[in-house]
Amino acid sequence: MGSDVVRRKAEHIRIALEGDVEYRKSNWLEYVEFVHRALPELSLESVETEARFLGRRFRMPLLIEGMTGGTEEALRINRALAMAASELGIPMGVGSQRAGILNSGVRRTYTVAREVAPDAFLIANIGAAQLVKGGVDMAKDAVEMLRADALAIHLNVLQELVQPGGDTDFTGVTDAIGDAVREVGVPVIVKEVGCGISYEDALVLQRTGVRAVDVSGSGGTNWTEIERQRALSAGDVEKASLAEVFREWGIPTAAAVLEVSRVEGIEVVGSGGIRSGLEVAKVLALGASMAGIARPFLAAAVEGPEAAVALARRIERELKVAMVLTGSRNVGDLRRAPRVILGPLRAWCEQRGLLERD
Ligand SMILES: Cc1cc2nc3c(=O)[nH]c(=O)nc-3n(C[C@H](O)[C@H](O)[C@H](O)COP(=O)(O)O)c2cc1C
Repeated sequence: MGSDVVRRKAEHIRIALEGDVEYRKSNWLEYVEFVHRALPELSLESVETEARFLGRRFRMPLLIEGMTGGTEEALRINRALAMAASELGIPMGVGSQRAGILNSGVRRTYTVAREVAPDAFLIANIGAAQLVKGGVDMAKDAVEMLRADALAIHLNVLQELVQPGGDTDFTGVTDAIGDAVREVGVPVIVKEVGCGISYEDALVLQRTGVRAVDVSGSGGTNWTEIERQRALSAGDVEKASLAEVFREWGIPTAAAVLEVSRVEGIEVVGSGGIRSGLEVAKVLALGASMAGIARPFLAAAVEGPEAAVALARRIERELKVAMVLTGSRNVGDLRRAPRVILGPLRAWCEQRGLLERD
């Protein structure tokens, strides 16, 4: 049982690293323009990137999104990412812990993160479908395995529907999330994996007591395409053509952040195709408290912890420049910085009643 999951994880890493696996459409952040300040009255050295998320402080508003576990290569990747997260003072997620729960022999591919980063903020990860089947005990197992500071529950309806052998029953998920919130003892984050989360779904999640929603909108890594490539190699032509039809499905990240930020009482993580510090700045100005990056950290971690640290430092430099250019002394100022919403994103907001700020 566990070995199928492990094989799938290995294929996911390989395709994500080698293939053409991004959305053709963008994350729509190009439709968000800051208003340039020619007189910021700030020095680059004085801007302060410290961020608050889930009651904790981090060096900058960036988190390493959950990606992997279960294989030897995943162990090396999680070790590199955890070393980087610890050095940088930012949170890090691991990938779905299903493999580690089913097969204790691969637990170390996850727990290595805690070994090398005893003080880092680590986020456990489990799929909603597994949570429905395995119940709260599975969620508790995932948290205990890592001594995690938070639990991320991922929603991936489209990925399951196009995946050979994937789940097709998505009932009971809201109640299962509510049970996990009550029982796991750490804050719960609900995330997508690339299709985004809407206002309506975020409202349901807020009512279950979820503390944060990580939108993982479209415009970055495309799981429908990754599963299409897997289906093709497995000779499953039907699933491959289904995936082709839905390849561009999903709420672009900029729209998803605006949707979810409308719901009071939950923190928002802006992710899905975030590739620069300017894009980090933009999701914060749309209402997020943190930005999340996945695939670029995977590629860096394969090279080693130094490459992952260098990636985050580049993002930090770009974020600081965006802060000076918007006259933002700190992350609070940046979140209130004037921005103009253009084109298709404006049309989306008008039709969804999202234009008024606050
Ligand atoms: C190789 C890889 C594996 C992933 N595995 C998981 C996972 O196990 N659980 C999860 O919640 N998200 C997973 N994701 C999704 C990411 O957390 C993130 O939501 C998504 O990739 C969008 O971010 P990006 O465009 O910066 O890659 C994975 C992403 C990648 C690239």
